[in-house]
Amino acid sequence: MGKAALITGGGKRLGKAISLSLAEKGYDIAIHYNHSDREAKETAELIREMGRKCEIFQANLSDIKQVRTLIPRVFETFPDCSILVNSASIFEDVGFQDVTEEIFDRDLNVNFKAPFFLSQDFSKGQNAELIINMLDMRINKIETQHFSYNLSKKALRDFTLMAAKELGPKIRVNGICPGPILPPPDKDIKYLEKIAENTPLKKPGNPDYIIDAVKYILDNPFVTGQYLFVDGGQHLI
Ligand SMILES: NC(=O)c1ccc[n+]([C@@H]2O[C@H](COP(=O)([O-])OP(=O)(O)OC[C@H]3O[C@@H](n4cnc5c(N)ncnc54)[C@H](OP(=O)(O)O)[C@@H]3O)[C@@H](O)[C@H]2O)c1
Repeated sequence: MGKAALITGGGKRLGKAISLSLAEKGYDIAIHYNHSDREAKETAELIREMGRKCEIFQANLSDIKQVRTLIPRVFETFPDCSILVNSASIFEDVGFQDVTEEIFDRDLNVNFKAPFFLSQDFSKGQNAELIINMLDMRINKIETQHFSYNLSKKALRDFTLMAAKELGPKIRVNGICPGPILPPPDKDIKYLEKIAENTPLKKPGNPDYIIDAVKYILDNPFVTGQYLFVDGGQHLI
C-alpha cells in the first residue's frame, strides 16, 4: 500500500483522531479543513512531530468547484495518496417541515455530493486503494428529527455499497457508523451519557473505538462494501 492519506475534516474531533492514527501507522497525511485553520495547523504540527509529512488543504465542500479541485491539489503534493476518508459533515437538527431548500442543499452537498465526487476523482489516482465514508448509526433507523442529515447519510451508505462494487478490485470502499462518540460542539459528556442510558451497552464511546474500526478496515484486505456500527448497539433500539 502507498503511504499517504487524505482525511476531510481531518484537523479536529474524529477527523483529527483518524489523521493521527493513520500517521502513527506510517502514512503521510493531507488534512482537509474549511474554517478551522488553527486546528488543522495544530494537528499538522503534531503529525510532523511524529516524523510524517503533513500538509493542510482548505476547501468549502458545499461548493462543487472547490470539491473538484481538492483531489488534484492533494495528488500534486501526495502522488502516492492511497486512502481517502470522507469525514467532514454537517449535522443539522431540522425536522421535515423546517427543511428549507438551502438546508437541503447544504446537507446533501457536504454530506453526500462532496464524498461522491471526491471518491470519483480519487479513484483515478494510480495508488488509490481505500475509501472510508463516515456514516452514522442513524442510517439504520427511520429517524426524522435530523431529516435531511439522515437522508444524506443514508444516500452515502448506499453509495458506499455501489462504489465498492464498481471500484473493486483496485479500491475497497467501506463505511463506519458512529453512535454516541463525541457530543456536538454545543453539548457536553452528560448529553452523551443520557443518550447512552438507552443503548444496549449503556455507555458512551470515545474516538479510540472509531480508530480501532479504521484500523480493522485498513488491515483487512478482504473487506469491502461493509459498514461497521461503532455505537454501543444504539442502532438496535
Ligand atoms: N461525533 C460523533 O459522535 C458522530 C456520531 C455519528 C456520526 N458521526 C460522523 O462522523 C464524522 C466525524 O464526526 P465529527 O463529530 O468529528 O465531525 P463533525 O463535527 O460532524 O464535522 C465537522 C467537520 O466537518 C467539516 N465541515 C463542515 N462543513 C463543511 C464544509 N462546508 N466544507 C468543508 N468542511 C466542512 C468541518 O470543517 P471546519 O471546522 O474546518 O469548517 C469539521 O472539520 C462525521 O461524518 C459525522 O457525521 C460522528
